[in-house]
Amino acid sequence: MADDTARRRAYLVVEPGASQSLPARLFADASVLAVLASIALAIIQTVPEFAPAMHLAIFDAEALFTCWFAIEYLTRLWIAPESPVYARTSALQARLRTALMPMSLLDLACILPWFILTWFPKAGSVAVLLQVLRFFRLGRYSPALAGVGRVLASELRPLAAAGMLGLAVLLLSATAMYLAEGDAQPDKFSSIPAAMYWGVVTLATVGYGDVVPVTPLGKAITSVSILCGLILFALPVGIIATGFLHEIRNRAFIVTYSMVSRVPLFTGLDGSALAELVSMLKSRRIPRNVEIVRAGEAGDCMFFIASGEVEVLLPGNHIRLGPGDFFGEMAILGGVPRSATVVASRASELLVLDAADVVKFTAKHPQLAEPLRAAAERRKSEGTAEPAPAPAPAP
Ligand code: CMP
Repeated sequence: MADDTARRRAYLVVEPGASQSLPARLFADASVLAVLASIALAIIQTVPEFAPAMHLAIFDAEALFTCWFAIEYLTRLWIAPESPVYARTSALQARLRTALMPMSLLDLACILPWFILTWFPKAGSVAVLLQVLRFFRLGRYSPALAGVGRVLASELRPLAAAGMLGLAVLLLSATAMYLAEGDAQPDKFSSIPAAMYWGVVTLATVGYGDVVPVTPLGKAITSVSILCGLILFALPVGIIATGFLHEIRNRAFIVTYSMVSRVPLFTGLDGSALAELVSMLKSRRIPRNVEIVRAGEAGDCMFFIASGEVEVLLPGNHIRLGPGDFFGEMAILGGVPRSATVVASRASELLVLDAADVVKFTAKHPQLAEPLRAAAERRKSEGTAEPAPAPAPAP
């Protein structure tokens, strides 16, 4: 079985969140430490007091970090087919798609500094830049950093539009100042590019004071530019703030009676029981292809599908569950590890009930306990049955 292979074991150690085992945690800590130490090294090597004395040690340490990052990169490509996201693709496709992901490209860039320092010592500044970029590898282990990345990626279009507007205003104001101040201050406004320095400092409302208007027209243009600058900077701030709001909303939504009543299991419950249940349930929005539970993990909650579709990945058999269905009950009721990996085959809205609440609620409402247990029993026997052919991929 795939679970027994070295690749599967490596996947469970290397893939963030795949397992909570000690080796997985040690690997994550070592990976974070390697990133932080290599960045510290990159910073130290730019300090003239340290650099000459420690040059050799810094170079050796960089070689060591390069080995670590290279092994990590190759391992991630090797284990890529183990990801449930690539359950229906070939190993080669899984690796290619993984290699083209932004995080993998960053991993690759993180290996380069040592080679640049060795073969092209004159391009040392590029190496330092790549060394510092390693910081973003922490996104793999930091949900907050990953969230910022997602927000920037999702708001790319409006941010690009705001950037274009900023460029247009900069160009206009710099041209106007070149025409208005060029004769009075030829050393400061000798050309449009020279006036652009004034433009950036003014539109950013920084105003160093090294380049100031002296003509009345120049002063008028400066006043308007400062006001435009305030608006221009408010735009991306607003866009990013809205992006964060969407990100938060995407993770959670308000659980309503109508969602709960869509689950057939709950139809027999009276008003007060439903109210109690609504207060216990949490919500989760899951994007398509994201893993929800993983086989072998300890189960701490179960799920009801309010909308969307999930796939239970049994060996050789993918079972689809849709709105009103539930999953994750087997680990809770049986006190055993998760029997299968479940992946969202469509963007889904799930209602989540913690294990303790499942026990509490079913004890209070025994009419729920029976169908849950029956489903768990049936699924257990189905899971060990002869595998049926996998269904066609979702449209
Ligand atoms: P659990 O073992 O907690 O986590 C994986 C879930 O997949 C499991 O609970 C069930 O809810 C679901 N599952 C396992 N086998 C089947 C099956 N044969 N049919 C439908 N769902 C299943």
